[in-house]
Amino acid sequence: MVPKRVFITRSLLSDGARYLADQGFQVETNSEDRILSALELLQKTSSCEALITTLSDRIDREFLKANPQLKIIANYAVGFNNIDLVSAREQGILITNTPDVLTEATAETAMGLMIAAARQFHEAASTVRNGDWKSWHPQKHLGPSLQGKTLGIIGLGRIGKRLAEMAHYAFQMPILYTAHTKKETAFRASKVSLQELLEKSDFVSIHVPLSDETRGMIGAPEFSRMKKTAVLVNTARGEVIDQEALISALKTKSLFSAGLDVMTPEPLTLTSELMGLSNVFLLPHIGSATFEARREMAMLCARNVAAGLRGEPLLTPV
Ligand code: NAP
Ligand code: GLV
Ligand code: GLV
Repeated sequence: MVPKRVFITRSLLSDGARYLADQGFQVETNSEDRILSALELLQKTSSCEALITTLSDRIDREFLKANPQLKIIANYAVGFNNIDLVSAREQGILITNTPDVLTEATAETAMGLMIAAARQFHEAASTVRNGDWKSWHPQKHLGPSLQGKTLGIIGLGRIGKRLAEMAHYAFQMPILYTAHTKKETAFRASKVSLQELLEKSDFVSIHVPLSDETRGMIGAPEFSRMKKTAVLVNTARGEVIDQEALISALKTKSLFSAGLDVMTPEPLTLTSELMGLSNVFLLPHIGSATFEARREMAMLCARNVAAGLRGEPLLTPV
């Protein structure tokens, strides 16, 4: 029997590819250290039954139509807004993602951004290297403490909940949240309207998936409701925020600061106004970038692919 072929669009931690090879699949990995163009991706995948994709690969209707032989696409991310799910379903192509295994890493990134943006790490750190650190200073680079401040979590799902725990246990932060349905938590967390969350929170962290419902959900009207002293963190997707409105809020100091792991576009253009603002801390979408999470994500993708190609139940179907 001809072994089934799997294409991996970026080189991942090797455990996943090795697992699939050990299971008798023929595995090919993009050997170049870059995202493939739509055309290159098409050329690579035309003889494959399975793909492991990253969030940078656009799996749209056209791509799926051109690949009727595909059985399964395992997305190396928990978010799946890069994939046209409707078309995939129509064609009977299975889709999986990587929930849970990256929850800790991403919540840690959000917590790191809360501290970094509040305490102006970015501005302060740059003075060490550029010669502007003239003396220990009693009044420079001040920011709000986290201790006891109210944290508003937009989207109390897996990652939002883990961040809530960290904030509650480490910093005694009261938690407000939004979601469609009320969530169980081991400590008090109050489900409120988005409006109330924005008005009452000292820190706001975004954890909703990108969807038609959440695209641009934080825009000028929402910024106008937030406290002038508030810190905003986004580790979800850049498109959830109206970035022009955010830039304006940061410029006019109607917001204290922001910490962003995601933005639009990615990579951010060097001419973006965000680049010139001292009250924003920017990371290049590294939310899940721990050794542990990335290894488990690769293994989860590989196990999903193996299960899908054998007609067995998927571990984490979308
Ligand atoms: P999740 O468990 O599905 O949580 C998402 C939560 O958002 C759910 O609780 C959902 O509430 C809520 N929600 C959905 N639409 C909403 C809306 N319109 N208003 C308020 N709440 C809404 O997902 P997760 O695993 O925590 O991941 C969240 C997102 O983080 C992913 O989709 C991904 O985009 C992003 N992410 C980024 C990184 C990174 O590297 N920066 C890493 C991992 C994940 P209900 O359950 O009530 O519907
Ligand atoms: C990363 O952004 C993910 O969705 O896993
Ligand atoms: C600062 O370094 C202090 O000792 O307070």
